[in-house]
Amino acid sequence: MRVALVVGLVAAVPWLQAAAQSVDPTAAEFDKFRAVLEKDNPAELFEAKGEHLWRTPGGPKKASLEKCDLGLGPGMVKGAYAQMPRYFADVDRVMDAEARIVHCMISLQGFSYAELAKAPFSNEVRTPDPVSLVAYVAGQSRGEKLAPGRSHPKELAAYNNGKAVFFYRAGSFDFSCASCHGVDNQRIRTQPLPNFTKPDQALAAVQGWPGYRMTGGVVHSLQWRLNDCFRQQRFPRPEYASETLSALMTYLTVNASGQVYKGPGIKR
Ligand code: HEC
Repeated sequence: MRVALVVGLVAAVPWLQAAAQSVDPTAAEFDKFRAVLEKDNPAELFEAKGEHLWRTPGGPKKASLEKCDLGLGPGMVKGAYAQMPRYFADVDRVMDAEARIVHCMISLQGFSYAELAKAPFSNEVRTPDPVSLVAYVAGQSRGEKLAPGRSHPKELAAYNNGKAVFFYRAGSFDFSCASCHGVDNQRIRTQPLPNFTKPDQALAAVQGWPGYRMTGGVVHSLQWRLNDCFRQQRFPRPEYASETLSALMTYLTVNASGQVYKGPGIKR
């Protein structure tokens, strides 16, 4: 059934369709598979690796990350992920978890940004260290309510900037994020496209990320997911750990705030 929601869009891009009202059989099979795997989520292996990386001295400065301040004070990991993105006074900007971890790897361990940013979104690098670290930190917020920063002026600015990016149309298809994620009941092939402007569906942007990819056997972070969507949108690659990505995550996470985060998930 094709609903005339996005007629122009559907005409331009035939694979973008309004979802059938009935449950998609392929999606249902994946859901069953995911339910089985979720009990023993392989993402936990990456959480363990991340914890090891966090505690073990590393980098040119041979330091661990145990003094990294994720917003709740140096070394406080429990619950920190659910309260990001947030404003960090030491860098005077809003950071999401991955951006903050990258910052700590640079400032505490002596890595260079260039080195960490070499191929962070690439599938060739299988779960780079910052992503395992994000998995560890995210796992420490399992069961916590999402409470990203939304009071500091820079946090409000990040939300507004993220929203502007979300609705910004450009590129060869004249797409914005909202073209695919701003209406209910759209899908591409078998993949349902959540409407991130609605709180309950915005949770899908945060829940399950970082996530273990069943089709690749690797863990990816939300930064990776967003980069892949920029690619689908025919936009240039966003800069790794950039303010733009933090702003976009602020917009998505604030829209989902108040809901419970279940920890690293499983994705198709
Ligand atoms: C051409 C359509 C398209 C555009 C434009 C697009 N996306 Fe996506 N997006 C997808 C598809 C397809 C998926 C994968 C859905 C799945 O795996 O079930 C996805 C998944 C996501 C997810 C993960 C949802 C989940 O359930 O895990 C997020 C977050 C996301 N997109 C954000 C964005 C943002 C932010 C933008 C703008 C920069 C954007 N997308 C632009 C098609 C698009």
